Amino acid sequence: MERKLAILTSGGDAPGMNAAIRAAAKIAKSYGFEVYGIKRGYLGMLNDEIFPMSERFISGIIDKGGTVLLTARCEEFKQAKFREIAANNLKKKGIEYLVVIGGDGSYRGANLLYKEHGIKVVGIPGTIDNDICGTDFTLGFDTCLNTILDAMSKIRDTATSHERTILVQVMGRHAGDLALHACIAGGGDGIMIPEMDNPIEMLALQLKERRKRGKLHDIVLVAEGVGDVMQIEKELKQHISSEIRSVVLGHVQRGGTPSGFDRVLASRMADKAIQVLDNEEGGVMIGLEKNEMVTHSLDEACSSERIKSIRKDYDLAVVLSR
Ligand code: ADP
Ligand code: F6P
Repeated sequence: MERKLAILTSGGDAPGMNAAIRAAAKIAKSYGFEVYGIKRGYLGMLNDEIFPMSERFISGIIDKGGTVLLTARCEEFKQAKFREIAANNLKKKGIEYLVVIGGDGSYRGANLLYKEHGIKVVGIPGTIDNDICGTDFTLGFDTCLNTILDAMSKIRDTATSHERTILVQVMGRHAGDLALHACIAGGGDGIMIPEMDNPIEMLALQLKERRKRGKLHDIVLVAEGVGDVMQIEKELKQHISSEIRSVVLGHVQRGGTPSGFDRVLASRMADKAIQVLDNEEGGVMIGLEKNEMVTHSLDEACSSERIKSIRKDYDLAVVLSR
């Protein structure tokens, strides 16, 4: 009898999710799995929005942002009784294998499905925030970074013309990776991330010294997790004399065609995910470490603190932004 596998996307969308869906479906078919799609993540699993995935469904999507499977957040899924209904919807169709593309919240749900109902689940890290431990990069991070860099170039034109200080708030609910990488790659002039203390006096001093050296503008990257950028603007105004404006880049960062890097990463991760399921394993996530595809248990992924070396990149960003 053919083994049946389903794919879903969950949590915030990220460029590269479609490339992962496409690769997982194609590779699973080549291993002899019958492939299903689930719409709207766990919400769709609960509402039985589970359908056989045709070749047509995945054609022409590799370069599209967002997710053709749609995504959603589903509070009910945090309760065991709703997870049981969702798992039964899979079981009644004979689906025993599941690929979950999403962030750490989605992994928690995936781990419970595996433990409580024996569904063999593999997680693929899809989130622009890059905030999942066990992988150097998550799907969508690279594309999002490039979107921010494009915006920074445009913001710099007007910042220079008006000799202003512009605070650019980028996404990252709990993580400063996007702000940090954008600061390094975009020639930012200041940085504030939630993993560090961000005394406003230090930032103000740095900006004042730049102006003394004849710099005409400043672009400061502020990660969303640091707090309200308008409040930061207000506080900074007490310390510096240049005109300040704040820009919240918002959801423009989540869309757009995925970069080549994200498409390759998605395809490699999907390939590894299907290999794992073909070996009858489950309860793991796929990661990229030292340019190799690796697996970590979902237990580990859900419980460990991020062990990434933010500190080194932070020091580099600070030196380069002076
Ligand atoms: P992300 O996966 O991007 O981190 P969320 O944190 O919003 O996004 O989680 C996505 C979905 O995963 C939630 O809407 C919920 O359905 C499920 N989920 C999150 N946390 C848990 C949990 N502790 N137990 C069960 N399901 C969870
Ligand atoms: O987790 C990704 C992310 O983009 C965060 O950086 C941001 O805080 C959040 O999603 C916003 O989510 P939404 O607007 O979809 O609720």
